[in-house]
Parts: sequence; C-alpha cells; structure tokens
Amino acid sequence: MDKLVITGKTPLKGEVSISGAKNAAVAILPAALLLDGVCTIENLPNISDVKLLCEIIESLGAKINWVSENTITIDSRNISCTNAPLDLTRKFRASYYLIGALLGRCKNVQVGMPGGCKLGARPIDQHIKGFEALGASVDVGQGNITAKADRLVGNSIYMDIVSVGATINVMLASVLAEGTTVIDNAAKEPHIVDVANFLNTMGADVRGAGTDVIKINGVEKLSGNITYSVVPDQIEAGTFMLAAVASKGDLIIKNCTTKHLECITAKIIEMGANAEEIDGDTLHVWCNKKTSKANIKTLPYPGFPTDLQPQMGVVLSISDGTSIINESIWESRFQYTEELNKMGAKITAQGKTAIFEGVDSLYGSPVCASDLRAGAALIIAGICADGVTEIYNLEHIDRGYENIEEKFRKIGANIKRVSEDD
Ligand code: UD1
Repeated sequence: MDKLVITGKTPLKGEVSISGAKNAAVAILPAALLLDGVCTIENLPNISDVKLLCEIIESLGAKINWVSENTITIDSRNISCTNAPLDLTRKFRASYYLIGALLGRCKNVQVGMPGGCKLGARPIDQHIKGFEALGASVDVGQGNITAKADRLVGNSIYMDIVSVGATINVMLASVLAEGTTVIDNAAKEPHIVDVANFLNTMGADVRGAGTDVIKINGVEKLSGNITYSVVPDQIEAGTFMLAAVASKGDLIIKNCTTKHLECITAKIIEMGANAEEIDGDTLHVWCNKKTSKANIKTLPYPGFPTDLQPQMGVVLSISDGTSIINESIWESRFQYTEELNKMGAKITAQGKTAIFEGVDSLYGSPVCASDLRAGAALIIAGICADGVTEIYNLEHIDRGYENIEEKFRKIGANIKRVSEDD
C-alpha cells in the first residue's frame, strides 16, 4: 500500500496540462462496443478506472491495443455481450454504462451491481426506467442486473431527476433502437455532450446534447473505423484552479475547455482570486491575498459541480470569515471535513450543509482519502499546510487522476509517493 507524503507550504507556480475527462472516458469506452468496427480513442486519461474498463471490454471479446500512453484502438467486431465479469463490473460505478451499450448492441446483458465512491445512496432507478421505456425487461437480484429485449423501440422518457448516468445510459441504449427516443430533463454536463459527439462520430443521430432535451433517431448499425479525442477533464482543471487559489499560487492551466469552468472562475473571482482566459483552452489563475468567504451550492451543470465541492472546501477552510456549502447531489460528501479538521480546519458538517469558519493556516497530519475527490482535496490541503501531511487510501485518487503527484511536483509541490512499508 502506498501513501502520499506532502511537505507544505508551497505556492504552486508554472504550467499544468489537463488530461482527458474521466467521466467522459468511462462512458466512451462502453459506447465503443456499439460499433461494429474499430475505433481509435485519443486523449484517454491513463487512470485505473480506464484500465479496469479495458480489462472488462477485452473479456467481452473486444481487441484493445494501447498505441501510446493516452491512445487506444478498440476492435469490437466480434464481441459476446453476456460475458461481462460480474466481480470486475461490481468494482466501480461506471460499469453501469455497459448495460446501455450492450443492451443496444446485443439486446441482452448481465453486469454486477455497480460500486464506486461511497457518496451516499446511489440508486439507478432512472436508468432502469429508461431501459424499460425502450422495451427491455430489467431484473435486479443477487448483486447483478440483467437487461433483455426482443427489440428496442424509441420512446419519450422524462427523467424525474437530473442524472448524468441515466442520461448517458439511455442515449447508449437508444442509438440502435427503432424510431426516435426523446430524453426530457436530461443532464447537460460536458461529458454528456462528449459522449453524444462520440456516438455521432460513429454514425449515430443524437441531437440536443448539452440542453435538457436530447433526441436520438435510431440507426440500423454503427460500423466503420473512426477516431475520436476525449474532451478535457472539467473536474481535473477545476482541481488545479482551486489548488492555485488555496496555495496562493500562479498557474497556467493548459488543454482545458475554459467555457466548462465558468462557474468556478466566477466563484474564485468573487472570493478575491484572479482568473483570465488566455485562449479557449488555456486559463491563467493566480491569487496573492487571503480569499474571502463564500457560499456554495452544488448543482447539476452549469451549476457548481459536486465533484469540486471538497476541493473548494479546502479554499473556504483558509478564507476570511464563515462560509457555507450546501451539497444538493450526494448525501455523504462531507466525509473529508473530518480529515481537514485533523489538519486544523474548523468545519461543522451536518446533513447537506457544512459551515466553514476560516482559519489562518492548516497544519500537516496523517489523513485518509474517503473517495476520489476527497483525496484531491487532501492533496491541496497538504500543499497549503505547515509541515508534513501523509495521505492514505490512494486507490481512490488513482481511479480518476492521471500522474497526479508528477503533475503537482512539476508546479512546485513537495510531494512523493512512498510504500507504506518504507
Ligand atoms: C456522475 C459522475 C459523478 C458526479 C455525478 C454528479 C460519472 C462516472 N460519475 O455520477 O462523478 O458526482 O455524476 O455530477 O460520470 N439518482 C437517482 N436515480 C438514478 C440516478 C441518480 O435518484 O437512477 C440521483 C443520485 O442519487 C444523485 C443524483 O441523482 O443524488 C445525481 O446522480 P447522477 O447524476 O446519476 O450521478 P452519477 O451518474 O452516478
């Protein structure tokens, strides 16, 4: 087991390049199974969730070739849809996209009930409602989900809540259905648009992604050879923006889509930090004074992303005055506050609300990453803290951040990964 050892306090300075989006990649890989052909996927983040998905996809009979660290080809001409390894699919959340993709391609699929970060109850009723509306029968039992259909026929589906996963999954299941599917109250996250663009590159007819109504005109087949590049990771870019602010640093963030970062840019400027767009994919973020308090409510895109809430929590912990975060998506997303309190923060979290009384400084401590984004927040906290911070449970962080310590080291952090036995 490894741990990260960080010696603070360092203002981060320099350039950092953002990887492809994890949440787009984990949907695009299953989506590639809809293609009776070969696709080349570029800008794929080299993270453990992607490697696990590749392993699952190969076990279904697809041939994967790593052309370089961030580019793969997937040949899914000869796949068998019902052999998804139940133990592997149970390991992470995004394996639920295999249901939509394989239902679409083969009309028959079984996967293990998806796992993933423990952020509270993570129901998939809206996914199931969508598959059933297309004509599938879905059974959940003994830790597995089975979905089958003789034929899939397009339908109108109103999502009771805005769900990233359900929106993407219904898109995947409906691209090869007969007729037209309309998803109402769809999620609008950048990765929804990216998955739709990927599907369209393969020959699908998906319109309206990025708005709350998505229309999918079913096509008979997706075939041929295509190449696609994954969109930059909004959450990774936001993590570095907040790291620049928290550490009173000065960062040029390259290969990001600045449009996707507007809600974060607006908030950090409101708090007294600076952000300037250099061009559509480069952002300059710097901060040379103590930031002021702010109130945050997490919301579906284009609102403030729940996946940046813990990282913003670090900034608020060392800002002037008392700030409040209201978490409206995940009920257990404040686990990181206990760890920050071990580092000298003054946070009271109850239910969906956390109150941050700003302190002058954090100090180093041994802490545990309870989930992926909590882990990112603890890295930022360690960089800002006096003394040495040790972060455990790195498997959560490795699921979603590519070369994280190398990226932070290049911009001045004193961070190293050591084996716990060392
Ligand atoms: C995705 C992201 C995750 C992010 C979240 C919200 C991936 C792999 N993960 O998760 O990082 O935190 O979006 O931006 O892309 N819900 C239901 N029924 C459903 C589905 C969801 O009640 O069938 C609820 C959830 O409990 C949650 C809310 O809807 O409260 C949003 O969930 P959803 O957008 O589906 O999140 P995920 O797709 O799981």
